[in-house]
Amino acid sequence: ADTDRSAVLEAHELTAKLYNYLLNNTQHGRVAKDYLRDRGLGDKLINHFMIGYAPEQWDTLSRFLSARNFDPSLMEKGGLLSAKSDGSGYVDRFRGRIIFPIWDRDGKVTAFAGRIIGEGQPKYLNSPETMLFTKSRTLYNLHHARPAIRKSKQVVLFEGYMDVIKSWSAGVKNGIATMGTALTDDHCTILARQAEEIVVCYDGDEAGQAAAMKSIPMLEGAGLRVMVSMLPRGKDPDEYITEYGPEAFLREAIDQPVTTTKFRLIYSRKNHILLKEEGRKNYLLEAAGIVAELDSAIEREVYLQELSREFDFPLEVLKQDCLIKHQELQ
Ligand code: CTP
Ligand code: MN
Ligand code: MN
Ligand code: MN
Ligand code: MN
Repeated sequence: ADTDRSAVLEAHELTAKLYNYLLNNTQHGRVAKDYLRDRGLGDKLINHFMIGYAPEQWDTLSRFLSARNFDPSLMEKGGLLSAKSDGSGYVDRFRGRIIFPIWDRDGKVTAFAGRIIGEGQPKYLNSPETMLFTKSRTLYNLHHARPAIRKSKQVVLFEGYMDVIKSWSAGVKNGIATMGTALTDDHCTILARQAEEIVVCYDGDEAGQAAAMKSIPMLEGAGLRVMVSMLPRGKDPDEYITEYGPEAFLREAIDQPVTTTKFRLIYSRKNHILLKEEGRKNYLLEAAGIVAELDSAIEREVYLQELSREFDFPLEVLKQDCLIKHQELQ
């Protein structure tokens, strides 16, 4: 089994190099390269992240691997090939896709994510779970980001590969992402070992904000100090950087994250029609409940003052309500 493992590891390393070579040096790779260029990825970035291209053919990788005497059934178990349904052999798992290698924490390639060029389903095809790769414990780019995380004690959590890559080029060297799956407790434990603070920078759309609401208590539960970067107008970090440039991204999103309380207040607002008295009342009730979760009376006071000013509502009443809710939580 140990020799199987090292053969699969070696195959992943070679496959990453092959796909990267095909992207950079072939006619087929040209389309993929143009696509990446259009999305703002130059050669330096492409090669730093070892991005590659898996051609449309069914047998590019399977031939490459058998020429090097890798056992095809082992390569199938390792997630690189797929068994043909009639049992007559193996074909490449990734075809006609941009390939992002996934590294483990030691910097070994253990899986791939393949993005379709342009529109189509599924947008991303990931390696299956294998002897090398467990999605629920893998964080994209952790290997590269580790020195920066250690140094700043801070990590930035993104939704997607392109967000990590584009942010890296904008100067965010401590960025990582989960891989299509939701954040797990294992992810949180791993992150809490590396950092003291985490900045959640999910997509600015409804799905991203809902995911942030779920991730926040998990990360706080793991002992991390959590902040949230909010992207305006439903954009994701990658789109924001393309549209407004890296400086604006750092200035508007990364450099001024909000507290989780603030984020939860903003999130809760969206469910209430504040133009109506009933909506305002319900929001204030919910807001008092959110603020009530804070341990510090000073912190509670700061948020309540803000609410009181904004809604022109008596501070003393907000404080009373919040204190009752706070005591109920004790
Ligand atoms: N994802 C996935 N499979 C899909 C869709 C998404 O694994 N079919 C994962 C990928 O890790 C992706 C992340 O979820 O990066 C976030 O999804 P989404 O925001 O839809 O994709 P983007 O990262 O914005 O992808 P792109 O910029 O390439 O369109
Ligand atoms: Mn490297
Ligand atoms: Mn998204
Ligand atoms: Mn996105
Ligand atoms: Mn995107």
